[in-house]
Amino acid sequence: MTETVLGDVAHGGWVVARIDGKVTFCAGGLPGERVEVEITERGKRFDRALVTRVLEAHPQRVAAPCPIADRCGGCDWQHASPALQLELKRRVVAEQLRHLAGIEWDKTVQPVEPLWGWRTRMRYLSVDGKLAMRGRRSNEPVLLPDEGCRIASVPAPLPAPRAREVGVVQGARQVSILADNRVVSGPEHLAQHAAGRSFQVAAGGFWQVHPQAADTLVDAVLRALQPREGDDALDLYCGVGLFAGALVDAGARVRGVELDRRAVALARGNVPQARFEAAPMERMLDRLPGRADIVVLDPPRKGAGREVVAAVAKRAPRAIAYVACDPAALGRDLGLFQASGYRVERVEAFDLFPQTHHIECVATLTPATSATLGGVSM
Ligand SMILES: C[S@@+](CC[C@H](N)C(=O)[O-])C[C@H]1O[C@@H](n2cnc3c(N)ncnc32)[C@H](O)[C@@H]1O
Repeated sequence: MTETVLGDVAHGGWVVARIDGKVTFCAGGLPGERVEVEITERGKRFDRALVTRVLEAHPQRVAAPCPIADRCGGCDWQHASPALQLELKRRVVAEQLRHLAGIEWDKTVQPVEPLWGWRTRMRYLSVDGKLAMRGRRSNEPVLLPDEGCRIASVPAPLPAPRAREVGVVQGARQVSILADNRVVSGPEHLAQHAAGRSFQVAAGGFWQVHPQAADTLVDAVLRALQPREGDDALDLYCGVGLFAGALVDAGARVRGVELDRRAVALARGNVPQARFEAAPMERMLDRLPGRADIVVLDPPRKGAGREVVAAVAKRAPRAIAYVACDPAALGRDLGLFQASGYRVERVEAFDLFPQTHHIECVATLTPATSATLGGVSM
């Protein structure tokens, strides 16, 4: 065991310490705490460690309600008060935006209720008929406590179906259970409601996880894009058409692009007024219309990247809404947009994943004019 004083929060649910001169990312701690840690991984540039004892606690430390919170890979911040969780996430977003895009971000992370029982999609491991979560940074199963997972929106199915992996997906009115990605109970497609519309989603397909997420993000995207009647809009990485539906309702002509063929087939039924293509974005870039008035993009965790950013900027939209679940990928891509003649007007951050380190941001971009080029401060 090594005694140390923890430094600031780092992206990914860690707090940084310097142990024997080496950067060490510690799980289970809070900034400023004096703790004992156990090194769990040794690396060339940095190590990882787990806090095993708290000697001087942060004033906003709370007892983690879940008995497996210290080992489970799901929750990183159960031991922080709700207010401190928001502050830790604020610092992570601010640091990523400063470091990767030169943006001074001084906004707060907006809380979204409920803070417990919000996860409408769960993936468990099944071990000898018992359900488990994956351990932190490992595939080792950590058996669920009797009370189940506290962030899950519905109780775990028991007895567990025979499978290696068990999925639980909650729709607006029904629940589906998957065993190794096959639906074994409940419907193949679930109805979800958002922004005054109903969407059919495959039980194993993508839908925003927190029950308030879809509405929260649609509102933020509409604030960002301010759609007008007759606008030509692109919904990139469109899933089953969540943002396309809201943009159609605002009078826009929408083209959507999405990799998952099943999602595209559903999007066509969900939003028949829009046009959807099933293809990897990288292959669609040359085939999209040459201009667009407004663009929403909601890429997976790794972000959109250089080619997609360049292709969007080339369409010269008057507003872009970038929805991001990883502030590091967002920071990198905002830097690329700034280099392509766009200005970051606003970044909103939402705590759509309470108790975990995850966070969702929506950035608004508009064309930079000569007056606005240069350093950005928000
Ligand atoms: C964060 S989800 C957003 C979905 C949708 N906007 C929503 O809110 O429901 C990202 C989507 O990007 C899709 N995707 C991942 N890689 C892609 C690629 N290379 N090209 C196109 N779509 C991709 C995924 O299938 C997923 O539906």
